[in-house]
Amino acid sequence: AVRVAGGIPVHIALKAPNFAVDWSEVKAAIRPHTRMIIVNTPHNPTGTLWSLDDWQQLIELVEQHDLLVLSDEVYEHLVFDQQRHYSALHFPALRARSFVVGSFGKTFHVTGWKTGYCVASPVLMQGFRQIYQYANFCGNTPAQVALAEYMRQHPTHIPALPDFYQAKRDLFNQGLSASHFQFTPTPGTYFQCVDYSAIRPDLTDVEMCYFLAEQYGVVAIPLSVFYQSPDPKMRLIRFCFAKTEQTLTQATQRLAECSPWLS
Ligand SMILES: Cc1ncc(COP(=O)(O)O)c(C=O)c1O
Repeated sequence: AVRVAGGIPVHIALKAPNFAVDWSEVKAAIRPHTRMIIVNTPHNPTGTLWSLDDWQQLIELVEQHDLLVLSDEVYEHLVFDQQRHYSALHFPALRARSFVVGSFGKTFHVTGWKTGYCVASPVLMQGFRQIYQYANFCGNTPAQVALAEYMRQHPTHIPALPDFYQAKRDLFNQGLSASHFQFTPTPGTYFQCVDYSAIRPDLTDVEMCYFLAEQYGVVAIPLSVFYQSPDPKMRLIRFCFAKTEQTLTQATQRLAECSPWLS
């Protein structure tokens, strides 16, 4: 989309194991023509959350270079262990220069509906709507009506979401702790990244995902596909725990059967 609009996307890789933003790298990547910075927290695929310090660093940069922000916050309600999500909208310095994107798909378990929202100042929205009018034209009205009705009828749905998904994360992680996969419990999203180097260090992450699907009937996503220039030595894959208890239990039982690597 950036290229179609005549822009040049500049990618900044988040590095294992903590996937924190390296702000010196972000600063160094800003060029005279930089117009916008795209950020994502809680983060897919790593589950990491931005700290207040991350937001402060962003504020300093966007003020200094007069940048717009596209803040992808589709997992805004999926934050665990009493941590909290800060939106770009929380910071007065960012409100006037940010487009904040949310997804009803993530929040209301209807990812296939492709229905979401964008929050921005009236001035930014004016530009947004001019493009939207010709790119999308309109949303899917029946889905919007259904979501509005659901929200009216279920006002406790959103406050209950963190516990709902945290229970799934804990069930999945508890099952996984009997396996040879290594991981740190994800603080947000419904994704759990795991290191499989104790099982099949000889396989790339793409090969490992084929191996798990074919041999164990469990599907994961390789982390390398999220990178512009993946590290071939990366041994991380992403599981999604937005599943029933039965599926999660069956999956972890199968994953626990993966034998450790004997070199
Ligand atoms: C970070 C992020 N942003 C946006 C989307 C798109 O969400 P939706 O399909 O609900 O519009 C996804 C979906 O996986 C995502 O992970």
